[in-house]
Amino acid sequence: MKLLVLNGPNLNLLGTREPGIYGSQTFEDYFKELKLKFSDLTLSYQQSNHEGELVTALQQADGVYDGVVLNAAAYTHTSVAIGDVIKAVGVPVVEVHISNTFAREAFRHNSYISPNAKGVILGFGLQSYDLAIQSFVK
Ligand code: DQA
Repeated sequence: MKLLVLNGPNLNLLGTREPGIYGSQTFEDYFKELKLKFSDLTLSYQQSNHEGELVTALQQADGVYDGVVLNAAAYTHTSVAIGDVIKAVGVPVVEVHISNTFAREAFRHNSYISPNAKGVILGFGLQSYDLAIQSFVK
């Protein structure tokens, strides 16, 4: 099974970005752990700070990956385009967030991703990604 882990803006700063909320591990380090844990899967990782690049990555994932684990970060709460592309392509998308967005500011309570996602996992720190990958493994 081939899965794409796709991260949006500022998630390249994990490790130093607001560690009280997001922890102190870099995503690159965590992704190495994921690859070891799920060594029977083919896991790929992409990150972009640009909305259009995330749209393109989701378009290109269709037919190539069996699923996408998507943390669209701040674009979750603003991007009609990312919501639309998930509707347009066939590849299943599981939405993840490191923090519990419902326990934070009101503007983080809306998601353009959730109505179009296969499921949503949030609030478990980096383990949210692990749980999302598990959701694809029958
Ligand atoms: C986030 C939550 C978003 O509200 C925020 O803009 C992020 C990270 C999370 O993983 O908790 O950048 O998606």
